[in-house]
Amino acid sequence: MNPPVLAPSILAGNHAHLADSLQIAADAGASWVHIDIMDGHFVPNLTFGPQTVADLRGGSPLFFDTHLMVSNPDPFVEPFARSGADSITIHVEATPYPSRTLRDIRNLGCKSGIVLNPPTDISSVLPLLGDADLALVMTVNPGFGGQAFMQDQLRKVETLAAVRDRLGLAFRIEVDGGVNSENWSLCRDAGADTFVAGTAFYKHPEKAAFRKAVEAKI
Ligand code: DX5
Ligand code: ZN
Repeated sequence: MNPPVLAPSILAGNHAHLADSLQIAADAGASWVHIDIMDGHFVPNLTFGPQTVADLRGGSPLFFDTHLMVSNPDPFVEPFARSGADSITIHVEATPYPSRTLRDIRNLGCKSGIVLNPPTDISSVLPLLGDADLALVMTVNPGFGGQAFMQDQLRKVETLAAVRDRLGLAFRIEVDGGVNSENWSLCRDAGADTFVAGTAFYKHPEKAAFRKAVEAKI
């Protein structure tokens, strides 16, 4: 249904040379890049603001998959849309009115994404899927790269794939956290079509081959 996509996460790149990190992704043939926005409140870490995204946008044709790990994302949606984000994904735990925010994201001309943390029940996102172009299942607790993949979260991927079929929807199903060359196929078999890889991509000796394997149609 959706062609498989690998989204290298520049969280694992060099933060003093982010444009180079984007280029490394592009050189491997990637069409997406995953940009983690952390506020030090929703998650215990800090990363990038809209200015960083805007400056990266200037020089890049990649699809900017922007993951907002921020409390109360509403005031940030428009600045990131204006900065050139292609998709904006918000956490269901971060706002009392996620469907309104998802609609705002679409109205700004971006793809809308909803994401849930490992302890959050899948039932919290099911009513939102009609407003979402992407549903992201965290396979680590968010905040840091390089953590171990939580395989039990794939049950949520299976549920999303079944609901998508039943409702005739077309949202992408993305996995994020600890995804690597050993476990990405488990994610695919569960129904994922969009694979974030930070550490596993940037440390991979054969990045283009990794990207091609993930994006091969089956
Ligand atoms: C974690 C971030 C992830 C992170 C993944 O909070 O949302 O996108 O970059 O990094 P790896 O692939 O190293 O787990
Ligand atoms: Zn992320």
